[in-house]
Amino acid sequence: MELGQVMYSYGWSEGLACVIFNKRLIKLNPETHEYRYLVNELIEEFRHQDMFAKAVRKVNVNTYKASRIHRMVGWIQLNLMPVSVMFISVLSVELMTDIYGKMIRRDPKVFEPIRKVSELHHIEEGRHVQYTKMWLKHYLDNSNFLLRTLYSIVVMWGVLFMRTLYVREEIFEKLGVDSPKKYTKAAKENLKKKMGEQCLPDVISFVKSFDGFNFITRPIWKSVLNAKI
Ligand SMILES: [Fe+2]
Ligand SMILES: [Fe+2]
Repeated sequence: MELGQVMYSYGWSEGLACVIFNKRLIKLNPETHEYRYLVNELIEEFRHQDMFAKAVRKVNVNTYKASRIHRMVGWIQLNLMPVSVMFISVLSVELMTDIYGKMIRRDPKVFEPIRKVSELHHIEEGRHVQYTKMWLKHYLDNSNFLLRTLYSIVVMWGVLFMRTLYVREEIFEKLGVDSPKKYTKAAKENLKKKMGEQCLPDVISFVKSFDGFNFITRPIWKSVLNAKI
C-alpha cells in the first residue's frame, strides 16, 4: 500500500510540474531551444505519470488523494508564485525523487517491476535536473539577498512537501493495526530521519551553490528539517 501511495505521489507531483512547464511553454516561440526542451520534458513527464499509474494498478492497492494542505500548497505555487520560484520548487522535488529512485532501483528487496520503473525514471530525471539547473542559473546568479532567502525557503518547503506526502494514517487504519496514529507518527519520524541522512546532502549543496544559507534561513532549515548545515 505504501508503495502504491509513493507511486501515486510521484505521479501527482509530476502532474503539478506539468502545469508549471505548460505555463512557461505557452509564452515561448517554437523555434527556441527552450520550447523544444520543455515539450520533450512534458512528453516524458506524462509518460512517467502513465508508468506510475500502471505501477499502482500492478501492486493492486487503493491510493489516497493528496491532503488538503498539499493541494493548497500546489495551488499557491501554481497561481501566486513567479516562474523562477515555480521552477525551483520543481527542482527541489526532482532532486529528492532522483535520490529516492536511485535507492529503490538498487534495493533487491523491492518488487521488481517497481525497481524497473525507478530505473527508467532515474535516467530521464537526471536530464531534467540538469536542464532546470541551467535554466535557473540566470535567476540564481542575479538574485539579491532577499531573493536568495526566498529561494532557500522554497527549496526547504519542497523537501517538506515531499517528505509529508507518502505517510498516511488511512493506510495503517486499513491494515488494522492497534493504534494507526502511533504507527503514522513512528513512520513519519523514520522518514524524516532517513531523508535527512540520504536526501538532504544533495539538496543542501544545491542551496549552498546559490548562497541560500544566511542568518534567516539557516535556523529555519535546522528546526524544520533537522538539517546539518
Ligand atoms: Fe518524472
Ligand atoms: Fe522530471
